[in-house]
Amino acid sequence: MDAFDTTRPNIARVYDFWLGGKDNFVADRELACTMTEVNLGIPAMARANREFVIAAVGKAAEAGIRQFVDLGAGLPTHPAVHEAARAVNPDARVVYVDSDPVVVTHARALLATMPGIYAVEADITRPDEVLAHPAIGAAVDWAEPVAVVLAAILHFHDDATAGRLVAAYADAACAGSYLAISVFSGHDDDMEAGSRATYTAAPFWIHSTADVGRWLDDVDVPPNCSPPTPASGGCCWTGWTCCPRRSRNCSG
Ligand SMILES: C[S@@+](CC[C@H](N)C(=O)[O-])C[C@H]1O[C@@H](n2cnc3c(N)ncnc32)[C@H](O)[C@@H]1O
Repeated sequence: MDAFDTTRPNIARVYDFWLGGKDNFVADRELACTMTEVNLGIPAMARANREFVIAAVGKAAEAGIRQFVDLGAGLPTHPAVHEAARAVNPDARVVYVDSDPVVVTHARALLATMPGIYAVEADITRPDEVLAHPAIGAAVDWAEPVAVVLAAILHFHDDATAGRLVAAYADAACAGSYLAISVFSGHDDDMEAGSRATYTAAPFWIHSTADVGRWLDDVDVPPNCSPPTPASGGCCWTGWTCCPRRSRNCSG
């Protein structure tokens, strides 16, 4: 992650602007507005993504999950993952993980202010390091069911990498765990090309519903899992909530 530079657009801050946040600078707002000219639906898609995240966390909490790992957590926003989890299970533990040190500083100051809520700086493309991270290990017992959230982050990785990451985190989660995934999913070639050419905060890839389904090939998705969010306006956030059953920690 580059040093803090307000003159260049930043993934977390551009997204924060789309969500109506205040933790962004001119360069972020300019890119966010230019992207919105390419695709008018983007701010609504960002909000829809947050709704998906909060619904998925609530669903996992209602299923009895008491530990949550939010990978690529982003700048604090409301409702936060721990608010959704603790609305159901007041003792739920939540680890916010992000590679952007400014995001982690904000998360420590605004979210990790009470016991059981943690903010950790780590690169999620290195699952072995994330899974072995002492601060994450202190918060999460991987032998117990866990909800792993990979929201609005896998489109920053190509197909092979995204599939590798889904497999690694699904493998780490024991039976009864939940995996929530959302990606920026395109259904309009011109809009996809325009979006990719315009977004300068980071390279990104647009993955189809079929791509995400393929990443989940080795994950046992039970029938009660939420279906993909319907496409709208050419692009959409596509989300799954599922329970991996193939796991190195799985006893049954
Ligand atoms: C678009 S935001 C999504 C925030 C949140 N997951 C959500 O869906 O609302 C993507 C976040 O992923 C973080 N990120 C990008 N690459 C990452 C990586 N390799 N490891 C950890 N975090 C990463 C960015 O810093 C940013 O905060």
